[in-house]
Amino acid sequence: MPDRSARPEDLEPIERASVDELRELQLERLQWSVRHAYENVPPYRGMCEELQVHPGDLRQLSDLARFPLTDKEVLRTTYPYGMFAVARERVSRLHASSGTTGRPTVVGYTRDDITTWARLMARSIRAAGGRPGDRVHVAYGYGLFTGGLGAHYGAEELGCTVVPVSGGMTERQVMLIRDLEPDVIMVTPSYMLAIVDEMRRQGVDPRSTSLAVGIFGAEPWTEELRTEIEEQVDIHAVDIYGLSEVMGPGVATECVETKDGLHVWEDHFYPEITDPRTGEVLPDGEMGELVLTSLTKQAMPVIRYRTRDLTRLLPGTARPMRRIEKITGRTDDMIILRGVNLFPTQIEELILRTPPLAPHFQCVLSRTDRLDAMTVRVERRPETGPQAAAQAGAELAALVKNTIGVSVAVEVIDPDGVERSAGKMRRIVDQRRAD
Ligand code: DLL
Repeated sequence: MPDRSARPEDLEPIERASVDELRELQLERLQWSVRHAYENVPPYRGMCEELQVHPGDLRQLSDLARFPLTDKEVLRTTYPYGMFAVARERVSRLHASSGTTGRPTVVGYTRDDITTWARLMARSIRAAGGRPGDRVHVAYGYGLFTGGLGAHYGAEELGCTVVPVSGGMTERQVMLIRDLEPDVIMVTPSYMLAIVDEMRRQGVDPRSTSLAVGIFGAEPWTEELRTEIEEQVDIHAVDIYGLSEVMGPGVATECVETKDGLHVWEDHFYPEITDPRTGEVLPDGEMGELVLTSLTKQAMPVIRYRTRDLTRLLPGTARPMRRIEKITGRTDDMIILRGVNLFPTQIEELILRTPPLAPHFQCVLSRTDRLDAMTVRVERRPETGPQAAAQAGAELAALVKNTIGVSVAVEVIDPDGVERSAGKMRRIVDQRRAD
């Protein structure tokens, strides 16, 4: 893999600032952002008044802990425009998050917000190893989802040539990669695997393409999957994180030189980790729910937004900004199986430790006689024969039992047996009925 590390002279001044300079900027911006929300978003002001806090109480960064937490529910009850802080005429773009049930949540951006987002995405792509002049194949979905347009504007801002493919039509994705010779691909990690399978089906060696960097996000993925993709495709596989309520992709990104967790762009977002049950702020290094506050957003500031994503905060390495560890999963995706908590990422990790199995899988939950059960439905690799597949299934069940501490059934199925998704992969299939 070619060296794609950033040169110090390419970095923005803030990416080379000291932690003290960063904290000073954060406090100044935080005071502005909280006041902006308080003065212009009536439901937010109401929440502050209930807790008897006022923007004037924010004298240091840790004072933020006294302010109310906000969550998706607040956005739902004020749907669609209730949390906007500027007149509708100043909003130049809307996006919406894919609500699995009921109404989506709508988010808005002023022209300045779009510019900030494009710059942060440009910074993210550069951190991940992209360079001006690179060709960037964007296979995140375009539309209300923030992935496609977020990546698109960022790649343009960096000075790249963008190929706006969007998700789906996998055969065509492979053709465009062969013909247009992109350097960078931006796509969900699960859809990348589907593209790699399609390359093989077309007789293309995935290691032989022009791709040098993959920027993967929008769903949890593991270190083991990074190794798998880097080996299979001979690219740098780098993680990018974000959520529509806070902006979209580009809230945090890994640096290609370290690949050791995602630097939160702290000049624009203030991260906290809280205990998801009590809301109490936890010290850096402890695992909990990521809570984010926007520091510069105009149209829709978010203050202490509960992401439901589980991770921990680590000190900066390649940049002064703190890192979040690769996300384990969302609190909503935590499976509680006979008293044991587990996440699909733990299953992915174990599947990738079982070489005859492919990383295409789903966790199917069922209930018989009021007892919950889980079946891991996983594909065998094309080169694995039926007998080896059955043996690998038994091995995986034993690994799950020994490392996670719960019994699951494993069903090894043929290649292509697990539904493919052109975007976020559905890892959990819940067939339980309340009885
Ligand atoms: O998924 C934005 C995005 C697009 C991020 C493209 C990265 C790349 P939403 O649809 O609002 O926005 O979903 C946000 O997806 O709260 C996480 O649960 C999950 N997620 C996003 N990135 C990662 C990641 C976009 N790198 C939700 N690792 C978030 C794990 C991620 N989970």
